Amino acid sequence: MQTINQLDALRQHISALRSVKRRIALVPTMGALHDGHMTLVEQARQAADAVVVSIFVNPTQFGPNEDLDAYPRTMERDAELLRAAGVDILWAPQVAAMYPTGFATQVHVDGPSNGYCGAARPGHFDGVALVVAKLFNQVQPDVALFGEKDFQQLAVIRQMARDLDFALDILGVPIVRDADGLALSSRNAYLTADERAAALALPIALGQAAAQIRAGDDVGQALAKASADLLAAGFAQVDYFALADVMTLEELQHFDGRPARLLAAAKMGKTRLIDNLAI
Ligand code: PAJ
Repeated sequence: MQTINQLDALRQHISALRSVKRRIALVPTMGALHDGHMTLVEQARQAADAVVVSIFVNPTQFGPNEDLDAYPRTMERDAELLRAAGVDILWAPQVAAMYPTGFATQVHVDGPSNGYCGAARPGHFDGVALVVAKLFNQVQPDVALFGEKDFQQLAVIRQMARDLDFALDILGVPIVRDADGLALSSRNAYLTADERAAALALPIALGQAAAQIRAGDDVGQALAKASADLLAAGFAQVDYFALADVMTLEELQHFDGRPARLLAAAKMGKTRLIDNLAI
């Protein structure tokens, strides 16, 4: 595995790789890797002949009062995991190289960026779209993999790739969970033991609401009960608990049988957790 920090070196290595490998996959990450990320890497190896993983804690997707400085950074351990997984290139640029002085471009994806995490974290998806557009141009992959854990992010990236004519496939990968059901996340590292135990209420509430909605119960009542259950279990705040159309993310007040997804975000202590479930 080559670890690369400079764009010119990345370009050289990618063109060398391209002369021997037909299909290149990209897995964008912010590091602090866990089994969710590693599942994306495994799927990337199956979907392509060479795998590039990026690690970049992207400042433009963090709000002013968010956890950019505290975000876990475990580069050496991450590099070992990626090497053992057979990754070809680890692309780990510095902030100053990604956003040099004078950087002036923004990417805003309307539609799927609106609502949910877009409402709770203004500007977040602009930062995600910007860095992912840059990564696509830098690596020029044939396929890029993203987790369904960040369901809205996946919808934003699919929309951007379509609108800006990026010539690549976007693959969504199902959520990887701990044995007890909590979705894996780099931010789970912030939870105390008590918070980690209480956080299980989130996947449980999603499962119960999904069962109620599938059984034909009133959607509004199922969502209200789910939010109340989260607060009763010790969550400090529920940002949203909603039913959405899987493609447009339009909020649904009724379940009419078309593919829909429950989306939720809630704060356990200071840690914001997100999760979602197919109906
Ligand atoms: P990060 O949170 O590091 O996640 C990197 C990728 O791993 C994302 O596609 C995310 O959806 C996926 N992922 C995280 N936890 C997962 C889980 N439990 N199961 C399946 N996939 C999971 O998402 C980002 O970074 C950034 O926003 C990024 C796209 C890299 C842009 O900066």
